[in-house]
Amino acid sequence: MNETKKPHEIRGLRGVSAGQTAICTCGIAGKGLTYYGYDILELAEHSTFEETIYLLLHGELPTRTQLDDLTKELQDLRDLPQAARAVLERIPKDAHPMDVMRTGCSMLGVLEQEQSFADQMQTTKRLLAAFPSIMAYWFRYAHDGKRITTQTDDASVAGHILRMLHDQEPSDLHRRALDVSLILYAEHEFNASTFTARVVTATLADIYSAITAAIGALRGPLHGGANEAAFELISTYASPEEAVQGVRAKLERKDKIMGFGHAVYSISDPRNQVIKQWAKKLAQTPANEQLYTISEAIEQVMWNEKKLFPNLDFYSAPAYHAMGIDTSLFTPLFVCARTVGWAAHIMEQRKDNRLIRPNADYIGPAERKYIPLTERP
Ligand code: COA
Repeated sequence: MNETKKPHEIRGLRGVSAGQTAICTCGIAGKGLTYYGYDILELAEHSTFEETIYLLLHGELPTRTQLDDLTKELQDLRDLPQAARAVLERIPKDAHPMDVMRTGCSMLGVLEQEQSFADQMQTTKRLLAAFPSIMAYWFRYAHDGKRITTQTDDASVAGHILRMLHDQEPSDLHRRALDVSLILYAEHEFNASTFTARVVTATLADIYSAITAAIGALRGPLHGGANEAAFELISTYASPEEAVQGVRAKLERKDKIMGFGHAVYSISDPRNQVIKQWAKKLAQTPANEQLYTISEAIEQVMWNEKKLFPNLDFYSAPAYHAMGIDTSLFTPLFVCARTVGWAAHIMEQRKDNRLIRPNADYIGPAERKYIPLTERP
């Protein structure tokens, strides 16, 4: 922390430690990004999202049997109750899918309440299994008028999501690309949505309330919403040259370019090298190759002009697009992944809880006498 400044003088609490965690290191004090000590680059190379879920919920990698059991459990929990499907069907077609995720989470919290904290692990698995269903069921109903089944025989969360969205067996390339992106998005220390979840949890509220609030925090373009905003930018341009000119003009106007910069990392986001490789691998049509080239041109101009680097959200955008995923679902996919990180933090907060309640330095008017309405000028 900056020794010369009081916490309130550090805008956005940058560099202020707001608690302890055993779950994740995130580039602070020379450390890279790790989940329970495992480097994100190794996890992205060798692990699966299901294995990462186990790691984040238990603190250790699973045995084969533990992994198979978890995978099966998640598969069995995918169905949505009729009452939840009925609510999803009433949400208008032009709603933002992040509002659908927030509403779906809240609705499930009504239908399947967390009766006691002893239910937290089961409720977490339920949410991990239900979020892809909520997202895909509403999207397909609202846009195609189809009531899809949310039970598929694809064992992986990634394959299951692609199956529900596209009604066909995904290629191994697409399944693995989405799987890796879910690993990368799964956890990131005290980011805005996770901190929100911990603040709500600290009041002893239920897990659905904490995660509903976290979804709200993730929605904004300075946080999770950046992947959708990044694609909107990339797809504006017809060529790399146009992108360079367009981004330069935006920077001159002091616009923010979504998908660049980070509140904690100062030189690069370690997740970027992984997602960028996948975005390149996925760009197999001329249109997607062009989007990838435009993305690289934007990366270059951002570095040249501002020394700003792409964060995970930037290349996630062309990668998801190349998999045929609708842009409005980019941030909901982040929800499907980050739920495990939120849940890990909720459980950690509950283990050693104290209400999170900072002070504020008052800067308003001095104390004054109440004036009755009839006496006011
Ligand atoms: N585009 C253009 N300028 C940016 C920028 C971006 N993406 N990110 C930071 N900057 C500039 C700011 O305008 C500011 O410039 P100034 O000092 O001339 O005013 C300076 O860099 C510091 O920015 P600030 O927003 O205070 O830093 P921060 O620590 O709050 O930044 C983010 C963290 C993530 C909020 C910020 O980089 C950002 O808004 N990025 C875009 C949104 C995004 O991608 N979010 C996902 C994060 S994983």
